[in-house]
Amino acid sequence: MALGAAGVAATQMLPGSASASVAGATATAGAGVKVSGTVFKLGVASGDPLPNAVVLWTRLVPSVQGGAGVFPPSVPVTWEVASDSGFATIVRSGTASATASLGYSVHVDVTGLSPATSYWYRFKAQGNTSRTGRTRTAPAAGSSPEKLRIALASCQNWQHGYFTVYQDMLAQQPDLVLFVGDYIYESTAYSYRVRRHEGSGEPKTLTQYRARYETYGTDADLQAMRAAVPFVVTFDDHEVEDNWAGDYAKDPVAEPTATFLKRRAAAFQAYYEHMPIRLAQKPSGDDILIYRSFDFGDLARLHVLDTRQYRDVQPTDNATALQAGRVIMGDAQHKWLVDGMAGSGARWNLVASQVMMAETDSLAGEGKEWAYDAWDGYQVERAKLLAEFQDFRNPVVLSGDRHRTIVSDLKLDFDDVDSAVVGAEFVGTSISSSGDEDLVAFAAEWAPKLADNPHWKIIDARRGYLLLDITNGTVDAQLRTISTVVKRDGTTSTGATFRVTDGVPGVVRTDIETASASPSESPSESASESASASESANSTESAEPTDTTDSASS
Ligand SMILES: [Fe+2]
Repeated sequence: MALGAAGVAATQMLPGSASASVAGATATAGAGVKVSGTVFKLGVASGDPLPNAVVLWTRLVPSVQGGAGVFPPSVPVTWEVASDSGFATIVRSGTASATASLGYSVHVDVTGLSPATSYWYRFKAQGNTSRTGRTRTAPAAGSSPEKLRIALASCQNWQHGYFTVYQDMLAQQPDLVLFVGDYIYESTAYSYRVRRHEGSGEPKTLTQYRARYETYGTDADLQAMRAAVPFVVTFDDHEVEDNWAGDYAKDPVAEPTATFLKRRAAAFQAYYEHMPIRLAQKPSGDDILIYRSFDFGDLARLHVLDTRQYRDVQPTDNATALQAGRVIMGDAQHKWLVDGMAGSGARWNLVASQVMMAETDSLAGEGKEWAYDAWDGYQVERAKLLAEFQDFRNPVVLSGDRHRTIVSDLKLDFDDVDSAVVGAEFVGTSISSSGDEDLVAFAAEWAPKLADNPHWKIIDARRGYLLLDITNGTVDAQLRTISTVVKRDGTTSTGATFRVTDGVPGVVRTDIETASASPSESPSESASESASASESANSTESAEPTDTTDSASS
């Protein structure tokens, strides 16, 4: 409430802890971020690479109290794109207008670039120069790139942990970061381990959502990642509100649709203002077009979905989940996806889905308890899509949301162990959401349920991300984990590895001897195999005592 009343100066909220002073020219924020007097406190980013174009992003934030009002309605921002980090050869430049109506965000869709080429960029405004960003265009249409390295990330809860695993991601030099949702969390500030959200309630207005992005935007590791590698993003629920569905809030009685849609419009605008996405993704009121696709020569087409905006309300029982006509993508998007896969001609059809597509059965033994907020809640539409997957080349689904690594075969019928495998799914874990978990308790909880989920190759509760190396023959994936997110000195290691082979639907775990065996066949054996895999990973990287228990989670 205080936040809304306020229009509290953006600068007051920037440190995240809000207690750090930014009145001086330079102060150290709660997150350990150097906040200087520059208007470029939120850094720079690039995204949505095409063969000849890429979106460059920044957002000006005033350095003195008074928020956006201290700027004139429009501020000129010059930008430069160079072929070298020293800006000796500037290949494109121009001036954009940062306007009050868009929160002084800047989206420059730079065109006329060369395919598969790295560029450096920077902005200048109000006497300040931004940090230098680096980006890379996509390969040319019709070209045959040898390799594409994608980091799959999701779920970065400011309050649950630090985003330090981005340091490891940066070191791995991906070509692209695919962020599949929960870039911010809308939760109220509360004491949970490491950092507190700003404000005193959930964001509901544009001012409040902007403040939330400003908090997250000061994270030094996130800023460094965004500055170094182009992102392709989509949102999930927490960019708006936990478990929203279509035109409905989580609690439609407390927050009727008319009220919720105003909130959704504010959330979408703030999302646009803070993401490196094109003008086509600028929201119109409470609608945004976020599903879109990207080509990487003839190697891969990346279809980015929106499984929130067009979905029916989540079911609470299996009978509803099985009803015909219920959708998670909706007919228009479903057709777009199927047409896009049919016409892609690429070796790999990557599908970025916010939520998990493979079945989860949380009920040990007879009967099923599904993950109703995920594709499980929309059984008929999923069955249709999985049947369609058989017609397309190498479907690989990349998801988030669960705060667990779950790697699965996608099956025509999850009820039938002999049913055809039609694709593979990688559900990434989280950058920080859910914090450091009790891995022993997690393993004890899931061990009795593994037999109910024979299509799973792993379920793992460590924080981190997935690193995918896509080549003509295979997709090789590494689960990169970090030992802790509640301290800044977490150590990283490879927690497991997986492979998808061209022309062979499904996925194999490659870091354990019986890679083709499902965990359910012998949970205890899998656990011990996984333990040795963990140990060997540690022996070549950083030893971390808690890793000895990690394996039990698979
Ligand atoms: Fe999440």
